[in-house]
Amino acid sequence: MFEPIRFMLNDREISATLSPGTVMLDFLRKHQRLVGTKIGCREGDCGACTVLVGEPEDGGAMRYQSMTSCIMPLANAHGKHIVTIEGLNVRDLTPYQQAMVDEAGTQCGFCTVGFVVSFAGYCLAQGKATQEDAIAAIDGNICRCTGYKSIERAAEKVVALLQERPAQAGEALSWLAEHQFLPAYFPSVPQRLAALRDDLTALTQPEETVVVGGGTDLFVQKPEHMAQQRRLTLVFDRSHGEQIYRDGDKVVIRSSATAEDMRSSPLMNQLFPQMRRYMKLVSSTPIRNMGTVAGNLVNASPIGDLTCFLMANQTEVVLKGENGVRVVPLRSFYKGYKTLDRLPGEVVQELRFNAPSGKVLFNFEKVSKRTHLDIASVNSALRLQLDGDRITRADCSAGGVGPTPMYLDAVTAVLEGQTLSSELITRAAEAAAGQAQPISDARGEHFYKRLLLRQLIYGHFAILTPELVNLEAAR
Ligand SMILES: Cc1cc2nc3c(=O)[nH]c(=O)nc-3n(C[C@H](O)[C@H](O)[C@H](O)COP(=O)(O)OP(=O)(O)OC[C@H]3O[C@@H](n4cnc5c(N)ncnc54)[C@H](O)[C@@H]3O)c2cc1C
Ligand code: FES
Ligand code: FES
Repeated sequence: MFEPIRFMLNDREISATLSPGTVMLDFLRKHQRLVGTKIGCREGDCGACTVLVGEPEDGGAMRYQSMTSCIMPLANAHGKHIVTIEGLNVRDLTPYQQAMVDEAGTQCGFCTVGFVVSFAGYCLAQGKATQEDAIAAIDGNICRCTGYKSIERAAEKVVALLQERPAQAGEALSWLAEHQFLPAYFPSVPQRLAALRDDLTALTQPEETVVVGGGTDLFVQKPEHMAQQRRLTLVFDRSHGEQIYRDGDKVVIRSSATAEDMRSSPLMNQLFPQMRRYMKLVSSTPIRNMGTVAGNLVNASPIGDLTCFLMANQTEVVLKGENGVRVVPLRSFYKGYKTLDRLPGEVVQELRFNAPSGKVLFNFEKVSKRTHLDIASVNSALRLQLDGDRITRADCSAGGVGPTPMYLDAVTAVLEGQTLSSELITRAAEAAAGQAQPISDARGEHFYKRLLLRQLIYGHFAILTPELVNLEAAR
């Protein structure tokens, strides 16, 4: 017998006694007969299966995020509000559905449900509505027949309509319901969900079972295996307040923090002013809403973007197991391809790194076959601590150039203790290329990736100290 997984589905309360690894998409279509949510790629890539997941933030207001139900474990819905296309029905068409009709934003209609749900999520988001954010809200939805220009025009209409939406969350919800953006039951959800959560028992956290964050890796790699799990160790419980916070000199990232938390964290944006630019290169909005930072590290992909970012920031991995807590520097966490310094049963509790202070230069770069929504061919991050022009500490990481994410000691050896100069940058770039051990695969030949890493080192300095980059040497 499975433990009941309890949540709100549209206007109803659900208690599901199914495997916690059942994917939400199957639950909706097969068990609830809610077939408006479509099955496309089943790998989180196309957005046909998009649903909204709402949970209360500190202060009680609801936060809704778009997620791909095809790789979402049912257990991660415990205590949340799941909204499908059926749960958005109003008397006629909603204004964002009407905008899609008016602008000819749909042809075969297969993708349209996903776009409409993502637009609904956008209408529920707080802050001033802008065209840029509206487009970002649908960046996980793929359409293969209409063409995006008409959908972008629909987005423009939605943005214009939202200019009247009140800023305060509770008022905004009522306004959206009054103006037929949402059905009438929506404003009652915060109260109803709070009552459900008060009565909720946390799902058991057994030891030595599969640990699941957002499931964006596990449910793509081994969906059948996950569906058969009787128990899971869930780390996606986000009810403990701030996901990323400062503790003295340290920045702490909880195990439940997502890539979206990294992107939108005021602290991360203050410390890394280019944070939003870096994160735009990482997956899509729904995947960032689900995928955890810890999951990115533990899945041990040699091209994990968050891993690369954090390795150059001297991050420590805090692991908790039956023998207590261990702290492992991220740079020595990887022992070989997909092999970690992690004992059986150990769970990543948090990640922490020293907040940049004094004169620090940092940059992250990623090159993939497509600029957006693609995994890296090669990525790299560089962090320099300076005393005047002298480098007192240098940390450089790279992905896609070896069997694991790599810490580039060779770059540290060249840079530390030296004064920044064109010649030094050239030596650092050559040292990085020298340490790389790429293999040839679908993402490029080994010599191309080695060259790419060399160029990314120049790229870091082109951003950080452009006046010092010798373009002739970089050719
Ligand atoms: C469409 C799509 C696009 C993607 N694009 C990118 C991209 O651009 N860049 C990128 O880097 N990645 C990308 N990914 C990969 C993935 O989304 C990320 O690696 C994500 O951060 C994984 O986190 P998760 O919580 O979903 O992991 P999960 O699937 O939940 O878990 C991954 C692994 O980590 C383990 N694990 C999770 N949390 C813990 C913990 N706290 N303690 C111990 N073990 C744990 C799990 O047991 C599992 O082995 C993409 C994935 C998809 C589906
Ligand atoms: S079916 Fe394609 S993202 Fe879920
Ligand atoms: S309308 Fe056919 S795939 Fe978008």
